[in-house]
Amino acid sequence: MNKRIYLSPPHMSGAEEKYIKEAFDKNWITTSGENIESFEKGLSSYCNIPFALAVNSGTSALHLALMALNVAEGDEVICSTLTFSATANPILYCKATPVFVESEKCTWNMSPEFLEIAIKERLKKGKKIKAIIPVHLFGNPAQMDEIMSLSRNFQIPVIEDAAESLGATYSNKMTGTIGDIGIYSFNGNKIITTSGGGALITSHQNIYHTAKYLACQARENVKYYLHKDVGYNYRMSNVLAGIGRGQLEVIEDRIRSRRENFETYKKLLEPSGKFKFQSEIENCSSNRWLSAVYIDGDTHLRDNIMTNLESFNIESRHVWKPLHTQPIFSKYPYYGDRFSESLFLNGLCLPSGSELKKEEIQFIAEMLVKTISRS
Ligand SMILES: Cc1ncc(COP(=O)(O)O)c(C=O)c1O
Repeated sequence: MNKRIYLSPPHMSGAEEKYIKEAFDKNWITTSGENIESFEKGLSSYCNIPFALAVNSGTSALHLALMALNVAEGDEVICSTLTFSATANPILYCKATPVFVESEKCTWNMSPEFLEIAIKERLKKGKKIKAIIPVHLFGNPAQMDEIMSLSRNFQIPVIEDAAESLGATYSNKMTGTIGDIGIYSFNGNKIITTSGGGALITSHQNIYHTAKYLACQARENVKYYLHKDVGYNYRMSNVLAGIGRGQLEVIEDRIRSRRENFETYKKLLEPSGKFKFQSEIENCSSNRWLSAVYIDGDTHLRDNIMTNLESFNIESRHVWKPLHTQPIFSKYPYYGDRFSESLFLNGLCLPSGSELKKEEIQFIAEMLVKTISRS
């Protein structure tokens, strides 16, 4: 059996161990220290934003973002439907109601048209919408101009779920820095990793301070342990921030490789007319974290492709099952035309790692084309 080709494995730079060793040498392995300070500084400088808070997951960052905006019971939060459950779970942690909005056909991200309909209808019903969470799916930027214009018109803050899109740009701005708050994930499968981890970024000092306070057990700044609020233990470890420092040094290389993967798949698969890809909008650059395709055919065809890839020890994955169709979320409001359901039925995420070889992509693409032509 050939060596397994994973969907999106971690790719170390080699510098990570040096920073981890420094943490051990200084016996500074807790949730503060030089690696954290440097990682946060590096991240805010890379993203060109004043405040970055390193935390233990992207999910924690989203929870902190919602709490910093005072999201509570009775409030509503509008959220992309085509995403991982982690985007919406923190809405439920806050006892608020998620309202799901469908994807547009071009980027596969939150449709500004359906967003506007959702906002108007929820407001007409007397609902209090506390935030909008667009996701930059698989690293591809959403229509932020339109989303931000609705945000301004209706005075609703935006939290960008940029968990998958670190380094992707929208009109020369990093995704995550366009809304009021952005979050990243450094989970093991992301474009850069800290093994597990995340970050909250913002240009609002008060939001940063509230998020940091809540992430550190809501401890008051006095000599003894004084707490006036419920706190959370969401900080990143100084050891893991060392991995992040080493990874941040190579982020641009990782983006280049993943973009090349995408372009190669596209060049090899598009001529058949059977495969469609996420489009980039003008003046935007996706980090192409995952190369995903929509396969023109029935679901069996997609499943056959997955089985064939698996027989060669090649991992592929379904596109997210839309949240409005998930048992846990199906009772909440949804606005859209169900486009994401077809992406779930006919979509496929292909191996996208930054160490993937051209020949491997060629082999995978040939297998897809062969399976299609046999059907
Ligand atoms: C879109 C999206 N949002 C949120 C998360 C949550 O991040 P984490 O796994 O770091 O909690 C992830 C990834 O895992 C994600 O893909």
